[in-house]
Amino acid sequence: MNVSANNHLASFAQIVKNSTQRFAALPAHVQWDIYSTLKPNHYICQNESQLMAYNALFANQHFAKLIDLFDFVFGRFIEIEQINALQNTTQPISVIDYGCGQGLASMVLQEFNRERQLGYQFEEVILIEPSALALKEAVKNNSLYYTNIKQYCRKFDQITADDLHTKHQVTIHLLSNVLDLPNIDVTALASCIKPSLSGVNIFVCCSPNFSNAVNGIKRFCDVFDNDVENMYYHKDYCDVESFEMRSQRLCKYRVPRYAKMFVMQ
Ligand SMILES: C[S@@+](CC[C@H](N)C(=O)[O-])C[C@H]1O[C@@H](n2cnc3c(N)ncnc32)[C@H](O)[C@@H]1O
Repeated sequence: MNVSANNHLASFAQIVKNSTQRFAALPAHVQWDIYSTLKPNHYICQNESQLMAYNALFANQHFAKLIDLFDFVFGRFIEIEQINALQNTTQPISVIDYGCGQGLASMVLQEFNRERQLGYQFEEVILIEPSALALKEAVKNNSLYYTNIKQYCRKFDQITADDLHTKHQVTIHLLSNVLDLPNIDVTALASCIKPSLSGVNIFVCCSPNFSNAVNGIKRFCDVFDNDVENMYYHKDYCDVESFEMRSQRLCKYRVPRYAKMFVMQ
């Protein structure tokens, strides 16, 4: 991976820029029509227009929500929780991106690592996503960053604990904007994950701050509560610049975030 930090940073930004330019060029009523198909289908994208709309409207929000969670996890959290396996290490690390969509969260993790020059070797990623189209993009987007990519084109209720076994001692579990979905049994998902775990496992669960999301994250984390000493939560706002359909231009605004993080070691 002989690519400069700037090139890597540009790649996420470039994806969003391309999608935004193409989406913004559509007539406003077409934009609204595409947008209106996303939520009722639980963001399981069935065509290329939905992938483009998702990136144009949501990718920068998710980037903003994740980037300072990673700042916390790979900073103070490691210190407080005394996660030795993540201190000054060049050992390979695994990542699981649940309901990965186009793989934005696993990409942001690598861009964060590169930008902050942390030197972590996130080597393996497991991508789980029911939309074949989105999953194909996720594999493409992450192929620059991970040597080892495993993919499952499935809903969570079709995943088994065996599918979640990772290669390395440390695994980062990314649950970005999925635990709020009304079609997901978050307790069943957590109960499937639990027996698959070995080594050190860090969970980053993040969603917009509304009651469904808070409840979903809470119910997911409850399954691990007895095995975990500390649960950390963030309830705050993130600054975002993204395309807005109402004004048909790039706007700066704040999004409310709810996130919980914990480690099992
Ligand atoms: C709001 S998007 C989040 C995508 C990605 N994690 C991100 O942060 O950009 C929700 C994702 O969950 C996926 N999804 C919806 N229902 C699912 C299910 N039952 N099992 C697994 N994934 C599901 C969708 O296809 C979509 O990619």
